[in-house]
Amino acid sequence: MLIAIEGVDGAGTTTQARRLVAWLESIGRPAHLTREPTTGPIGELLRRVLGGATGAVDPWAVALLFAADRIDHLRREIEPAQAEGKIVISDRYVLSSLAYQTLAVPEALVRMINQRAPAAELTLMVEVPVEIAAARRRARGGPEELFDALEVQRRVAAAYREHAVRARDAGEPIVFVDGTPDEDTVFATLRDALFARLSSR
Ligand code: TYD
Repeated sequence: MLIAIEGVDGAGTTTQARRLVAWLESIGRPAHLTREPTTGPIGELLRRVLGGATGAVDPWAVALLFAADRIDHLRREIEPAQAEGKIVISDRYVLSSLAYQTLAVPEALVRMINQRAPAAELTLMVEVPVEIAAARRRARGGPEELFDALEVQRRVAAAYREHAVRARDAGEPIVFVDGTPDEDTVFATLRDALFARLSSR
């Protein structure tokens, strides 16, 4: 089973993904935590691009790299973990590419290059107003990255919502969660959504 957790930068997906994996393990369900961009070769390259270390890279090339990293992620990490019977929780997946890359690249291209990535069995969409997400990023510190500008984040949030709603309307299992409350409250909501999905299979 593959579970994706999505949200704008600062939505808290990384913390919550970690907590969900710990919770699964605690109830005796082996789980594997992973993220995109990955820690593999293409993901490492992407991190350098996002951090500005490579100089500007054309958005089409960035979109291709994210898709390439995802296919590598599936082969290198997700499928082997699934073969061991683990539930995989990925901090970001295809919906991230639809939200971010469609700002600068035609949606049809993004969809085409992501065709090899199977849909997640559940997508947890953590929604937080971009101002709050920006304040959290500032509190966390660290360097500014490629997509961090508030105006960009606003467009990302709108694209997230549009594509997530469309996916839901097309029958994909996707749950919208308000990420504004405190960490424990958000976690409880995510855990319940995941539990409901596990119970329904
Ligand atoms: P992020 O989750 O912030 O990674 P980290 O916490 O390691 O910095 O992801 C990095 C950025 O990559 C983030 O701004 C979203 C962007 N991104 C895309 O544009 N497309 C994608 O397909 C993915 C997975 C991420």
